[in-house]
Amino acid sequence: MNDQNQTLDTKKLPKHIAIIMDGNGRWAKSKNKNRMIGHKEGVKALKNVIKTCIDINIECLSAYTFSTENWKRPEKEVSFLMNLLEIMIEKEKKDLKEKNVKVNIIGNKEKLSKNLIKKIELLESKTNDCTGMILNLMINYGSRNEIINAVNQIKNDKNLSDKTITEEIFRNNLYTKTLPDPEIVIRTSGEKRISNFMLWQISYSELYFTDTLWPDFSQKELLDILTDYQDRNRRFGGL
Ligand code: FPP
Repeated sequence: MNDQNQTLDTKKLPKHIAIIMDGNGRWAKSKNKNRMIGHKEGVKALKNVIKTCIDINIECLSAYTFSTENWKRPEKEVSFLMNLLEIMIEKEKKDLKEKNVKVNIIGNKEKLSKNLIKKIELLESKTNDCTGMILNLMINYGSRNEIINAVNQIKNDKNLSDKTITEEIFRNNLYTKTLPDPEIVIRTSGEKRISNFMLWQISYSELYFTDTLWPDFSQKELLDILTDYQDRNRRFGGL
């Protein structure tokens, strides 16, 4: 742990941290490298953040890994990212299990390859009984898609379709139904937008935007951000 951690109040940590990992391409460009190298370095940064969150006992970490809009990228980049995911899942599953991490893949699995779905399902079932940190990898995830999916699920549920829909019913039909809402969303790379990420769940989340490009995102920066979070006055619309 670095010095900054000494100022962190371990009793005031967020339960759920959500991260929009952005800037792999610009990181690569700044170093005259191919974008794919940026994505590979991005995986290293993600592993580092997962480790830090486990070390400080974060209950839940969500990482925006591939959005429903990312299919618009050149086919070569999409297949590189899909392949990287498969490799990452394959390589990390033993370690994640040993670290007692329960992995959820959140998103619409329909468009993913059979091979990837198989690997995802294996990872989810292998870590299903883990009781440590929950790691949500958001893959082919889009908040609008999640909301429409929830509406259709409610509409098609005979026990619900005639009822007045409450926040609770709606929440229970989201992909994240069993999870607490994130207290903080971090986005790297200097972009200050939410990009279709957990729109319902982050209604009252603290937002933190950093100029750091994702591959350079370090343990120290995460701990600094959490220290900043602890100084914020969360009022939820009250006084
Ligand atoms: C954003 O950078 C990053 C992504 C679209 C992919 C995010 C995922 C990871 C880096 C880590 C883990 C990934 C896998 C597949 C296991 P960008 O490409 O949008 O960067 P740019 O905005 O600078 O072009």
